[in-house]
Amino acid sequence: MVGAIGGGDEGAEPGGECLYHPGNRWGLVRIRSPVGACVGRPGGAVRVIYPGGREILAPAGVSVLEASRQAGVPHASVCGGRGRCSTCRVRVLKGIEGLEAASPAEQGVLDRIGAPPNVRLACQIRPAEEISIYPVLSPEAQAGAGADQPGYSGGQDREITVLFADIRGFTTFSEKKLPYDVVFFLNHCFEVMGDAIDGAGGTVNQFTGDGVMALFGMGGGSEEGSRQALAAAGAMAEGLREMNESLAEEMEAPLRIGIGIHTGPAVVGRMGRGEALYPTAVGDTVNTASRLQDLTKEYSCQLIVSAQATESAGFDATGFPRHELTVRNRTEPIVIRAIGDVRDIQGGGS
Ligand code: FES
Repeated sequence: MVGAIGGGDEGAEPGGECLYHPGNRWGLVRIRSPVGACVGRPGGAVRVIYPGGREILAPAGVSVLEASRQAGVPHASVCGGRGRCSTCRVRVLKGIEGLEAASPAEQGVLDRIGAPPNVRLACQIRPAEEISIYPVLSPEAQAGAGADQPGYSGGQDREITVLFADIRGFTTFSEKKLPYDVVFFLNHCFEVMGDAIDGAGGTVNQFTGDGVMALFGMGGGSEEGSRQALAAAGAMAEGLREMNESLAEEMEAPLRIGIGIHTGPAVVGRMGRGEALYPTAVGDTVNTASRLQDLTKEYSCQLIVSAQATESAGFDATGFPRHELTVRNRTEPIVIRAIGDVRDIQGGGS
């Protein structure tokens, strides 16, 4: 489906005769661009193609954002098209070579969000030839998704530390509790884990079931990240101990925790949709950290940390049991340390 837009006030009448160029029949007429170009005349309009095959004909000289607005295509634009927020950014699938190079101001915004070369600001590009675009953000994107976000937001390879923590036996525990109590205890656990992560300088990625995934070193580098993750693990264990103590009368047995920590490369970025767009990471490092957390059951310990994480943190783990194992979906064996009580990491093991 093709629609037509223009700066004039007379609308589109496909198949009619051009008001400004009598005799011209090009299928889209009576529309004049802000500079007076008639879209019924070849060269006076450009085709803009959106995801899903939607197409519009925009007068030459208007920005893609203006074209979207005039055609009623929803498009994020928190700063109103002033080239500051980056929320209008689009991935140019076809026609990037026909665009003028980004101005220093536009390039500055693109650099701040770590945009790849085929991403441009829709409010700044004025295509003279057919262009196919894919808006990066949903039309509802708010300021939080804009250029004030960290450089990895658009997707980058980074060396980070990933921590997974899980409350042991919570399913059995919850079977004997009323729904209200289950929510109360779970939220209390999340509070403890979230505070430990925030306090150490990490980012809570997601709470799932009775566990949490957290990322460290997204901004400060892997060495700082791995140190923060170990600190968070210690704070979690201590927080859970305090919680067990204060709620002892409400529980048949203290809640336990299993934590896995691994450092390595991952693809990081803001992922999701609409309001559920948040910083996250994907890749082998994430899967490995998750697997290490699972293995705490097998090794009957609170924490399993990879050698990559301890070395990156500069933490001497030689006092803790060492194991070399193969993790599912990973070809290289991995060296780990199994730590029975996380609070022992302050003393370096025994
Ligand atoms: S609308 Fe804000 S940069 Fe384009």
